[in-house]
Amino acid sequence: MIATIILLCLCFLILILRLTPQRPKNFPPGPPVLPILGNLLNLSLENPLKDFERLKKSYGNVYSVFIGLRPAVVLNGVKAVKEAIVTNANDFSGRPQDMLANDIGERKGVILADYGSSWREHRRFALMTLKNFGLGKTSMEERIHGEIQYVVDTLEQSIGKALRPEVMFHNATSNIICQVLFGTRYEYNDEFIRTIVRCFTNISKIINGPWGTLYDSLPMIRSLPLPFNKAYKTIETCKNLVIPLINKHKKTRVPGEPRDIVDCYLDELAKRGNNGSSFSEDQLLIYVLDLYLAGTDTTSNTLLTGFLYLMTHPHIQERCQQEIDQVLEAKDRASFEDRHNMPYVQAVIHEVQRIANTVPLSVFHCTSKDTELMGYSIPRGTLIIPNLTSVLNEEGQWKFPHEFNPENFLNDKGEFVKPEAFMPFSTGPRMCLGEGLARMELFLIIVTLLRKFKFIWPEDAGKPDYTQVYGVTLTPKPYPMKVQLRAMK
Ligand code: HEM
Repeated sequence: MIATIILLCLCFLILILRLTPQRPKNFPPGPPVLPILGNLLNLSLENPLKDFERLKKSYGNVYSVFIGLRPAVVLNGVKAVKEAIVTNANDFSGRPQDMLANDIGERKGVILADYGSSWREHRRFALMTLKNFGLGKTSMEERIHGEIQYVVDTLEQSIGKALRPEVMFHNATSNIICQVLFGTRYEYNDEFIRTIVRCFTNISKIINGPWGTLYDSLPMIRSLPLPFNKAYKTIETCKNLVIPLINKHKKTRVPGEPRDIVDCYLDELAKRGNNGSSFSEDQLLIYVLDLYLAGTDTTSNTLLTGFLYLMTHPHIQERCQQEIDQVLEAKDRASFEDRHNMPYVQAVIHEVQRIANTVPLSVFHCTSKDTELMGYSIPRGTLIIPNLTSVLNEEGQWKFPHEFNPENFLNDKGEFVKPEAFMPFSTGPRMCLGEGLARMELFLIIVTLLRKFKFIWPEDAGKPDYTQVYGVTLTPKPYPMKVQLRAMK
């Protein structure tokens, strides 16, 4: 009897030991790990950003955590992030392939594609087609200004009343990328745009939310009917909205005369045929959804943060308006080129991006081979978390790391300067490929709206709450906004 009990205890001990993840030799340090859970109890599943900051204080800029049984290395501060994803880009530019985000995206598209030929071809193609559809030329400005007019109309209808701007900004950014992808836009009350924008917001929150993290940590629970399944339903809804658009393109396109990115992709498919190329119709669907999603939630949440801070820092808003009036004078509208004559506005927009910290942990990377970083050994397949939050508020890199202050981007002469630690779009070969589009949108939207309107924090709205809701993207809590028409100078 005693022998059986001892044997059972031994078996149990062996099982526990096997289920307790071990740090590989010379792996970055980190907190002690528990069986099965790894370091999940060290991290808030709702929002781990503060925990990552706390662990940095204990273990330094490069440390490790176990998300369940999965080893991850967290990179903090500009030096460690650049050393990994720029200097050693070939080793650190993969993407993990077995997480919720990959499963719902069927391992296709560009954002989550592993470092390899399919990713490279699709990334190059996206950059090229974005350029052909007007990035860097006036045609993209035309599209953005066209959409701004709808925002202006919405705001004009709300003069004197308090409105909630989140749907308006989500719709505007969604329509801008939608025009580049599908050559079409939707009225703000159209069911298509309402549904797709809601789906994008939900996906961002589910993937990095508590259930997404549990899914990624504990493979044994993946087939259970738990709330992470909502992500599959949500992506299915998106697909069902986008498939008819692609089918319509197939019917109406004129080969060689592309109207938008979908037409370009279909042309490319026809050109490549079935010669083992990474281009396919299945890829097209996820590729388009990738660009649509990445181009909507990010820019709109940055705008929302921007207007929250501009309303609650009226002296900064007024100084922007003075500069805009002075530079634009009688011009009927702003162009992206005008940014070179607006150092203060540039500084404010960059400061908004710094404080908005829209993609706080970047998109997770993964090592594609056994490698080294700052003296540590990191095996192939290790999850890499570039903690952009730690760079955007790193002490020593910013004049005012912990407050909203455009001086962070101005030198003694009042000229605009961009510190090395400004990396809301990340850095290295996986850096955001929509940066050019996003910057153009932010500039034209903010300048046009500030020129025409004064934005006011409603007197009865209480104290502003700057807390952000965590997900792949950070979102300001819903807030009210009052607008007044400015007298045009
Ligand atoms: C303010 C707006 C935006 C911010 C802050 C932002 C930020 C980011 C970040 C941090 C990454 C991860 C980079 C990495 O893995 O190291 C990323 C990737 C990406 N972004 Fe953006 N983004 C924005 C707007 C856009 C727009 C408008 C588009 C659409 C054209 C876009 C498309 C993408 C794509 C496709 C990737 C994946 C790139 C790859 O894996 O090679 N983003 N973005």
